[in-house]
Amino acid sequence: MDLNGAKILVVGATGVLGQRLCEQLSRRTTDIVVTGRSAAAAEELRKRLGLRAAHALDLVDHDDAAAVVRRAAEELGGLDAVVLATGVAAFGPAAEEDEAVVEELFEVNALGPMAVVRAALPHLPDGGAIAVLTGVVAELPLAGMAAYAASKAAMASWLGSLRRELRRRRIAVVDARLPHMDTGLADRALTGRPPTLPPGHDVDDVVAAVERGLETGVHEVRMD
Ligand SMILES: NC(=O)c1ccc[n+]([C@@H]2O[C@H](COP(=O)([O-])OP(=O)(O)OC[C@H]3O[C@@H](n4cnc5c(N)ncnc54)[C@H](OP(=O)(O)O)[C@@H]3O)[C@@H](O)[C@H]2O)c1
Repeated sequence: MDLNGAKILVVGATGVLGQRLCEQLSRRTTDIVVTGRSAAAAEELRKRLGLRAAHALDLVDHDDAAAVVRRAAEELGGLDAVVLATGVAAFGPAAEEDEAVVEELFEVNALGPMAVVRAALPHLPDGGAIAVLTGVVAELPLAGMAAYAASKAAMASWLGSLRRELRRRRIAVVDARLPHMDTGLADRALTGRPPTLPPGHDVDDVVAAVERGLETGVHEVRMD
């Protein structure tokens, strides 16, 4: 899809990758609605980049999240693309996982994003795009992050089915299987400490690859 002048909703725009992606996208269009859990943080980003609108959105509340998507579509006069840059991690042995943490992982990494995409679909035109930051953990489950990896794998699988279903409408479903980067995501984990991770990939390179992926409609963005 052509990003120039495109109408884009970025959910999780206040995170490290979300902000960098918005900075990058705002060179092509300012018809962007951004969301964060904090309305104030989202508004600060909107003002800094001169974007269209900012809203609070918590993925745990699916009805509210869907209402924010509808509002964004109204504000933009439709949607060409929706980008999900949300996510949360948790670490520790599978045998010791806390039920509440597992539930939150699946809410934020899978169930909430599915609800947002479902709410966005009626507003997306043929040829539109959906991009979700999943991660290599979706296909490469490491010890010490079982539920985190499983929640990302659930989302990746759902996106795979959706892509097939949307083929006739030529809506691109971009699954960004990102590698580790030093964004502090691991330090903000719901629980536990991460295993020793390889040196982080360069964030600018990854964000540029996601932007390119959105533009070209690739199935998966990979850095290897
Ligand atoms: N960093 C990496 O190494 C890496 C590698 C592979 C994949 N990824 C994926 O990339 C995405 C962004 O990661 P990041 O590194 O930019 O981390 P980040 O800075 O911690 O961003 C996480 C984002 O998720 C949002 N979020 C968390 N819980 C939420 C909830 N209940 N409702 C709505 N939003 C919620 C945060 O909102 P607030 O701003 O309101 O806190 C923030 O916008 C995640 O999906 C992550 O899994 C990251």
